[in-house]
Amino acid sequence: MIMGLKDYYKNYFPVGVAVNTHSIKGNEASLISKEFNSITPENAMKWAYIEPKQDIYNWKDADSIVAFAKKNHLRIRGHNLCWHEQNPSWLFVDKNGNQVSKDTLLQRLKAHIFRVVNRYKDAVYAWDVVNEAIDDDSTKFLRDSKWHEICGEDFIDSAFVYAHEADPKAQLFYNDYNAERPEKRERIYKLLKGLRAKGIPVTGVGSQAHWSIYEPKQDELETTIKEFASLGLKVQITELDLSIFPWEKSRRKKNPNENDEYSDQLKAKQAAQYKMIFDVFRKYRQYINGVTFWNVSDKDSWLNHYPVEGRKNYPLLFDSLLHRKAVYWNVAQW
Ligand code: G3I
Repeated sequence: MIMGLKDYYKNYFPVGVAVNTHSIKGNEASLISKEFNSITPENAMKWAYIEPKQDIYNWKDADSIVAFAKKNHLRIRGHNLCWHEQNPSWLFVDKNGNQVSKDTLLQRLKAHIFRVVNRYKDAVYAWDVVNEAIDDDSTKFLRDSKWHEICGEDFIDSAFVYAHEADPKAQLFYNDYNAERPEKRERIYKLLKGLRAKGIPVTGVGSQAHWSIYEPKQDELETTIKEFASLGLKVQITELDLSIFPWEKSRRKKNPNENDEYSDQLKAKQAAQYKMIFDVFRKYRQYINGVTFWNVSDKDSWLNHYPVEGRKNYPLLFDSLLHRKAVYWNVAQW
């Protein structure tokens, strides 16, 4: 038998990958079933995809991903139930275009969560219930989103309560990025501690892990895992990739002289970073119950389009021809 990542890590945690309807066909599909034992739909379960127009549902893509997972005996992480992005345009307004009330919005949230969670109840074992609610600005707490503007902080509590009612067995995650940066970590911790104190049914925290060869440092990563685990929460790495560029948030054009060569020096830095983070994941396996990569290979990484359209990135373990890169072995062998 040819071993895959899931086999190397069988005594540690499931190893997953974000997929779309292209990646579950052809060569990528066989790579996925060989290497991984869990998937996350990259976009297909987001609200804008499921219900683009009010009461008009589009289950096709999500259903085909779920069928693929069932056929290949893969776990499924559902992604996601409540987010400030990729929402349909009708969601926050009434038929006249006026902003809806808090009651109406929470009713819509409840109906949506019940509908989606129920449909995939026998397949999805964990949901990203609330995604990215903390502000990027370290002087602020919750992000200034339509959810926050209309509902105040209650939308977070409500989303978890509805998801738990819909499927009491599902693991329910709060999911966010830059969770290892101390100022953001503290705000995520504060949010989660508050949820736990109120008895809100949150079972885990997802660190998205859109990292780079520059961050996080080992002590930042270890502190984050220990702090979240100290709240009695499971910890998952939910959207892992290691960019060869420093983190940037705003979209911009590629500079004419911007170099996106995957040099030996960058490869060495990336190899060291991949080795370090998986050393840490194995060390804390008692708390970590899943590690998921965001996309299959460097060919299809979202980082080839974001934040700089057309700037090639090399963040994953498989190259554009779907071959294992040298860095694969920094993860698979220790
Ligand atoms: O499907 C349409 C296509 O019909 C259209 O022609 C094309 C033109 O731009 O857009 C296509 O939609 C794109 C979609 O991905 C599917 O490829 C959207 O423009 C694009 O914005 C969207 O990006 C997704 C992004 O979330 C949205 O913010 C990425 O694929 C997806 O990887 C990314 O995932 C997020 C997680 O959900 C949350 N954490 C961060 C992570 C990375 O941003």
